[in-house]
Order: sequence, then structure tokens, then C-alpha cells
Amino acid sequence: MYPIIKPLLFQLDPETTHHLTLKCLRLLHRYHCGFLLKGKHNHANNTLAESDSSSTTTLMGLTLPNPIGLAAGLDKNGEYIDALAMLGFGFIEVGTVTPLPQAGNPKPRLFRLPSQQAIINRMGFNNYGIDTLINNIANSQYRGVLGINIGKNAATPMEKAVDDYLICLEKAYPYASYITVNISSPNTRNLRSLQSASELDRLLNHLKNRQAQLATQQSRYVPIAIKIAPDLDEEQIAAIADVALNTQIDGIIATNTTIDKTVLGNHKFAQEEGGLSGLPVQTQSNHVLHHLSALLNSQIPLIGVGGITSGADAAEKIRLGATALQLYSGLIFRGPQLIKECVNACCQLK
Ligand SMILES: Cc1cc2nc3c(=O)[nH]c(=O)nc-3n(C[C@H](O)[C@H](O)[C@H](O)COP(=O)(O)O)c2cc1C
Repeated sequence: MYPIIKPLLFQLDPETTHHLTLKCLRLLHRYHCGFLLKGKHNHANNTLAESDSSSTTTLMGLTLPNPIGLAAGLDKNGEYIDALAMLGFGFIEVGTVTPLPQAGNPKPRLFRLPSQQAIINRMGFNNYGIDTLINNIANSQYRGVLGINIGKNAATPMEKAVDDYLICLEKAYPYASYITVNISSPNTRNLRSLQSASELDRLLNHLKNRQAQLATQQSRYVPIAIKIAPDLDEEQIAAIADVALNTQIDGIIATNTTIDKTVLGNHKFAQEEGGLSGLPVQTQSNHVLHHLSALLNSQIPLIGVGGITSGADAAEKIRLGATALQLYSGLIFRGPQLIKECVNACCQLK
């Protein structure tokens, strides 16, 4: 069905399409019509990518029905969790969420580049705030693995960034299967400076201490992952690996979008500010993943994300050292079929 509706969706402005598509998905879920997305009728199972024991994956101590997850940013407020779960993801990450609601950057802030299978976004953490997010989670039916991706408000000075992450960690903790600390969005001023060894060490020490307290109080350990940028040289990657090992961080998500748009040449959107995702980020993302994997030697699990547009792309990231994967831009260009393709490709590697 997606190949039929895609040309219509691509006529609209990207942000309108985003909301419209998610609302339609929610209607399909509400009226048990998810099978319509399959192409052939199968009423027995309401999810599109079926998982079986061969696709089960353990990640940060969590059991995933399959290793293909939804990346952060698509459902920032956790409004569509049940509808997205219907597509057959092995896990879902919502957010990035900040302590207080914020509008994000002025529009237009989302650009589609179909010829490159790419997206540029400078959304700027538009979200309704952590309280609304957890309310939406509490009202969802989903009982699968749910990551909550946390960030800082744009108005919070960098010296107080730790406080924003701590607020989100505490509030998200009872509702999350794992928590992602986003230190790599290019659309919040100076956020990426948190990736430097000293800043990262300070931030992660605070978060790990609070995690230990929360785990004792709530008798439940919720793993913490960090999400890093693809725009890191080998020295920076090595420094992050060191801090991650020293602070015993539970997982690393590699990577976010890139600020490097040289591959776009003279494309009409090449000068747009923001992060580039989709196929053009794949090489850089894979480089970071591969390098980290060699340094970490399986001591910290890696989640690979960035430029997955086919089953072969997914299999490549697993070969480079990822335990699980996440999709975003590929879904826009390939539709939900991509999830099943990636699950199958990863299963064949086992
Ligand atoms: C429109 C858009 C919004 C995004 N918002 C977030 C976000 O809020 N938090 C985050 O950690 N990553 C965000 N991302 C990054 C994705 O989660 C992913 O890391 C990145 O797009 C690379 O994967 P892809 O090539 O499969 O899209 C966003 C990406 C896009 C395209």
C-alpha cells in the first residue's frame, strides 16, 4: 500500500505529511486495519513484521522480539506508540523529550531529498515536555521494550544541562525500558560539546549515580545509553569509548544525523542548516560504529542507526558490531516494508 500512497504524501510539505501519516496509522490501529498495510490480507496477526524465536535479541539485559527498532524523533511525544508497535518493531524509542515543553525552531525545518534518500531537519526538540510524554506512555497499551530519549531545553544554559537530564531521568525512569541520553543533536546550540571527554564524564557520573539510587528505590534497573554524532574523528571516538567504559554506561547508539553536507553537492537544500540523515549518513555512521566496536570489544552493546535503507544495510551494521538497529529516514522512503526486510536480513546472519 505504501508505494501507492507515497507519491501523494510526497506532494505535501514534509511536516504535514509526518503528522498526517501518523494520524492515519493511529486510525488503522484503532480500527484493527493494520493488515491493509501488508498488501495481502492476514487478519490473524495485527503486526506487519512477525518475530519468532530466531529473531529474539538481548540488548542491555532486555529481551527484544527482533533487533529492529524505531529511532528517536519520529514520535517525540509518545502519541503513536501503539500504532507504531503494529508495524512490528522489536523496540520503540520515543523523544527527544525535554523537562519543559518547547516549540522548536521556526518552520520550515524539515526537508525531503528523495533523489538522495535523505532528510535534513532542524526541528530543535519540538516537544510537549516530559510530563505529557509520560502521561501518553501511561495511556498506551504497548508492553514491549520502550526507550525514552532525553535532552535539554534550548533555554537552559549549558552549565545547567546536567540538571535537565537529571529531571528527565527521574521522571522517565519508572516508564522506560531504557533511557537514551541525547548529546548529539546538531539543532540545540552547543549540545554536542557534551561529547567531549571531560563534559561527558561529568554528565555520565551524575546520571549513573542517580540511576543507582533509582534502581535501589524502585527495585528495577533501567539501562542508560548515550547517543552520539557521526561527525567525530577517531580520537574523539576513542575518548568517548574510554568514558563509556569508565562510567559503565549500558549502551551506545551510533549515530545521530550529520552536519556534513558536502555529499549533497549543489542540491537546492545543501545550504539548509540542520542534520542530514538517510543514505548520505550511512558511511560516516558505519565508520563510527565499526571504530567503536573495535575499541569496546563487546564490553558495551552498540545500537546502529544511520542510513539503513535495505536489509543489506541492516546486515552490514550487525556485521560491523551492532547488537540492534534503529530506523528513521529509510521508513520515509521505503515504508513499513523496510522493517520486515531488515528483520529477515538480520535473522539470516544468525
Ligand atoms: C525529522 C527527524 C527528527 C529527529 N529527531 C531526533 C530526536 O529528537 N532525537 C534523536 O536522538 N534523534 C533524532 N533524529 C535522528 C534519528 O533518530 C537518527 O539517529 C538519524 O536520523 C539517522 O538515522 P536514519 O538515517 O535512519 O534517519 C531525528 C531524525 C529526523 C530525520
